[in-house]
Amino acid sequence: MRTIIEPFRIKMTEPLKITTAEHRQRALEAAHHNVFLLAAEDCCIDLLTDSGTGAMSAQQWAAMMLGDESYAGSRSWKKFEAAVHEITGIEYVFPTHQGRAAEGILAECILSPGDVIPNNSHFDTTRANIEYVGGIALNLPCAEAFETGVPAPFKGNMDVEALRRAIAEHGKEKIPFAMITVTNNTGGGQPVSMANIREVKAVLEEHDIPLIIDACRYAENAYFIRQREAGYENSSLLEIVQEMFSLADGATMSCKKDGLANIGGFLVCRNSEWAGRFRNLLILREGFPTYGGLAGRDLEAIAVGLMEALDYDYQVYRHATVEYMVERLVKLDIPMVQPAGGHAVFLDARKMLPHVPQLEYPGIGVVNALYLEGGVRAVELGSVMFGHFDDEGREQPSPLELVRLAFPRRVYTQSHFDYLIEVIEEVWRNRDAIGGHRIVAGPKLLRHFTCHFEQMG
Ligand code: F0G
Repeated sequence: MRTIIEPFRIKMTEPLKITTAEHRQRALEAAHHNVFLLAAEDCCIDLLTDSGTGAMSAQQWAAMMLGDESYAGSRSWKKFEAAVHEITGIEYVFPTHQGRAAEGILAECILSPGDVIPNNSHFDTTRANIEYVGGIALNLPCAEAFETGVPAPFKGNMDVEALRRAIAEHGKEKIPFAMITVTNNTGGGQPVSMANIREVKAVLEEHDIPLIIDACRYAENAYFIRQREAGYENSSLLEIVQEMFSLADGATMSCKKDGLANIGGFLVCRNSEWAGRFRNLLILREGFPTYGGLAGRDLEAIAVGLMEALDYDYQVYRHATVEYMVERLVKLDIPMVQPAGGHAVFLDARKMLPHVPQLEYPGIGVVNALYLEGGVRAVELGSVMFGHFDDEGREQPSPLELVRLAFPRRVYTQSHFDYLIEVIEEVWRNRDAIGGHRIVAGPKLLRHFTCHFEQMG
């Protein structure tokens, strides 16, 4: 088979700063050993997130020039609404400035204190929005999700039996809706099968509980369904996402991912009573319902991006990149989540650094070593991000200690990825020298963004 090439060429460049090891050492110390506090300029390959970091296409830039900045009922809004309708088939559409704004409005309008929201795995902002209004965010991933080294086609699936048990335990009155996140970001960017979504929907329907899809990576998930699930090999990605959303009562979306835009999001629902509540809070928090938190030009870019993400050749190339990385790293025996996820490579920091206890944050050790070695910025998805405190105030670790290298869309080329493999290999070779970290300052909620670390030992 021929090399799968980037299905685009570059007509504008942005310089990357090549830094020395001494420079990176100084920068990391000044950032209190928390890569979130580094200047982006000091990061050579920035894989902190795939969110809002993608390159827009010429079509998107051209569409931006058509932005209609009217306060109400703009042309750009019509295009945005039409694109969201085409993909989701869901009637009521509310533009938001990003995904978490959609989550916040959903949580504030629908949740009461003590309500329980099941999900395959909540993203950190989803969890925080639910907890902020007194709800309980319940993760019900399938059993395979915890076996990082064992390949399975749909490790993002929800554990349907656990969902049944949760409904029996808490009662449907306590569960105003359930969610399913495609792909399952915190569990390794792993896909959810159509069969699983269908089964989850069937269980919820028995109890009249609405299903909300966290749809950030809807197009990447659709690609996996086409590749791996029987019966979809000849479907277009658009047909797959339409079928998926037909099972949903609503969705939250961050257009910073599969919207291929640098900012934006939306909330959709079928229930007119919910829509009324969302509309009022949207006006208070985000803006008039036909622009939400967005400029007309953003609505234009998203309307184009939502469809471009469903281009099959684009998804083939994107997945080839992630698979290439995973294949090469597995050959080097580096512990990681397998098979390849949709938007990132996830290293298993607990297995990489068995000498670092979980509450000394092995993920932070690996993240900081990657930066020092090659200016690569990754992110910890482990006990710093997902750890919690029990009723007696004791810190509890997260079930997994992952390090995510998220790939911005259409940004880096093959040589960047080869460089990345060299950097990871060097960190792996010198892993015995990596020690633990402790948190010396920071907030309790969403602490990973701003806390300060100190190296131990
Ligand atoms: N849901 C999922 C599954 C996400 O991955 C994110 C964001 C959000 C919701 C919130 O969207 O950022 O637009 O407010 N994930 C980014 C990441 C930040 O790095 O994975 P947002």
